[in-house]
Amino acid sequence: MWPAGACSLLKQQGIPMMQQAPVIAIDGPTASGKGTVAALVAEALGWHLLDSGAIYRVLAWAALTRGVAVDDGPALCRLAAALDIRFLPGSRVMLDGGEVTEDLRREETGNAASRLASLPDVREALLQRQRDFRQAPGLVADGRDMASVVFPDAFLKIFLTASVEARAERRYKQLIDKGMSANIERLSADLRERDARDMSRAVAPLKQAEDALLLDTTARSIEQAVQFVLMHATQRLHHPGESRQV
Ligand code: DC
Repeated sequence: MWPAGACSLLKQQGIPMMQQAPVIAIDGPTASGKGTVAALVAEALGWHLLDSGAIYRVLAWAALTRGVAVDDGPALCRLAAALDIRFLPGSRVMLDGGEVTEDLRREETGNAASRLASLPDVREALLQRQRDFRQAPGLVADGRDMASVVFPDAFLKIFLTASVEARAERRYKQLIDKGMSANIERLSADLRERDARDMSRAVAPLKQAEDALLLDTTARSIEQAVQFVLMHATQRLHHPGESRQV
């Protein structure tokens, strides 16, 4: 499934030239598949994984359940500083000792996360938590501003996207498979609204970094996307400067 030898090459040969653990940054809009691709790439390489959206979602869930308004910057920053967030294997998330994995996937949590993420002070308050994930042997980080703000020195930057229709369809299937009800028009409208907010905010807006490779998954499978990332990671690490073209 992976490019021949890519994973073992990266695992065995290490990363001789880098002072800090290497980072692969994968940014993209909601439901583009970046979380799934990032998790599979991290697993293939044996690297750490940062789902930065989950950190914004944890803060949103904490705010929703503790009566903090999602536009109250100072209160959100105080809340952010006090949160005890733990990530467990299997993408499980604990907040202050209780499991919140399912609560984070709710649409209301995602919408609240998108709103509070537009506040510069809140982004600043969550910055170091994200950078702390950078540990040997390497990190695969997904989000909106991994390449531009959090890890600008990432050795590989991917902007992963797909059409709104394809993303709405995927989200619809996920919800139906979980036995939940869903409306495709409503999902498309929500995605468009969230994209617009994430792309138009003043600080760290969602956009393709200049040095990022564009990966459109509208007509590609998750496997093909993972293969693309691993192939470019291998090229960059072992033949720096040669793989600037997609
Ligand atoms: O990736 P996600 O859908 O779980 O993210 C939820 C929200 O969090 C998203 O709408 C915008 C915000 N977010 C962000 O602003 N920056 C990030 N690096 C990750 C997420």
